[in-house]
Amino acid sequence: MAENIFPIYDRLVQFEDRCRRLNQRPVSLWFCGLSGSGKSTIAIGLEKILFQKGYIVQVLDGDNIRNGINSNLGFSVEDRLENNRRVAEISKLYNRSGLITINSFISPTKDIRAHAKAIIGEEFFKEIYIKASLDVCEKRDVKGLYKKARRGEIKGFTGIDSPFEVPEVPFLEIDTEKHTLDECIQSLFKAIEPLIRI
Ligand code: ADX
Repeated sequence: MAENIFPIYDRLVQFEDRCRRLNQRPVSLWFCGLSGSGKSTIAIGLEKILFQKGYIVQVLDGDNIRNGINSNLGFSVEDRLENNRRVAEISKLYNRSGLITINSFISPTKDIRAHAKAIIGEEFFKEIYIKASLDVCEKRDVKGLYKKARRGEIKGFTGIDSPFEVPEVPFLEIDTEKHTLDECIQSLFKAIEPLIRI
């Protein structure tokens, strides 16, 4: 009897069976970039097109993470690391259940992204740099936060008085200054589809 209790893993539904059932191979698309670079907009558009093609995919971003499970975290170096660490753990759970995730977080440092990669696993983690210059992000200022940061009303704002380290060798780089939203989504879809198709 006792030998049946541990380990349980080989008695659970297996990963490969989940992939076959869902007819997809999961990945964690890890979008990083400045606030206002276009991460969330592209994530929403890509999720829609993937879902329309039959893939089961979930966007994780500030709206559903920082208001919920990470509502106790701010923007200090430690809190950003913890924010991204928890997201990576959640993403890993999704992936192991066979689901694709699109993670949309500034994730400003190489260290933060390396942590996420280590948690999720190299095979699943796909770093995607959503590229736009600080100048353009500041001009867009969709949420009015850059103005506040310049006035000193927000301290430690990424790009202003908190660093953003550009990824050296991302899986993909999507330049939202040079391309339209639709072009960005289409080129992402083309690059991702071969990875997730069975
Ligand atoms: S991360 O650095 O921990 O990865 P995350 O992507 O979750 O950041 O949240 C970024 C969003 O929080 C920004 O788009 C912006 O709307 C808001 N925000 C509030 N304060 C800051 C700040 N100090 N630096 C950057 N973004 C901030």
